[in-house]
Amino acid sequence: MSLPAKVMEIIYDTKYQHPRPLYYAALKADSILEIGIREGYSTTSFLCGLRDGKQGHLWSIDWGRDPKTPKTADIIQRSEMAEYFTWIKRDVRLIPESWFKAHSMDIIFPDLNDLPPTVILQNCLLLMHKGSKMFLLDVNRISEKEMFIANLDLDLYSYEIKPIQSGMAIITKEADG
Ligand SMILES: C[S@@+](CC[C@H](N)C(=O)[O-])C[C@H]1O[C@@H](n2cnc3c(N)ncnc32)[C@H](O)[C@@H]1O
Repeated sequence: MSLPAKVMEIIYDTKYQHPRPLYYAALKADSILEIGIREGYSTTSFLCGLRDGKQGHLWSIDWGRDPKTPKTADIIQRSEMAEYFTWIKRDVRLIPESWFKAHSMDIIFPDLNDLPPTVILQNCLLLMHKGSKMFLLDVNRISEKEMFIANLDLDLYSYEIKPIQSGMAIITKEADG
């Protein structure tokens, strides 16, 4: 299947390598949570995948302090992608554990520029059901992410590391529990 023009633009105009796998994953998803919008490379890839796939929904948490984020959200909200998109404008650290326990997502993509506190990654696990996938960038570069992966319960989760952008981990929940 050929990639949509928007995703092609992102792939060829930037140094980033994550849009393509995120687009393909989104084709099969009903519900996606990403944490971190900024220029919206991942946001756009997910939205194209949702539109071309099952017409599911993307919730994007970002506190909006980088001026690129409200600009990206505004462009999306005025586009044909708007119906698939909700911006949750908050500091992710202030979203309580109970929120993560109460929701379930097919795909989770925590992508903060700073080192994400381990609690965020642990909270992201609470969103996962059997078959959910979590994508993590730069796992070979950021020791806290390596530690998080090394400590996963392998009865419940499997993972693979793709050799892009200092390592992209794809964690899959294999069993309920
Ligand atoms: C690396 S960028 C996201 C890039 C985007 N996922 C992409 O692929 O183009 C990280 C974003 O997370 C936001 N951010 C950083 N810390 C945050 C926090 N504690 N809560 C919410 N958003 C945060 C930043 O302002 C920035 O917009």
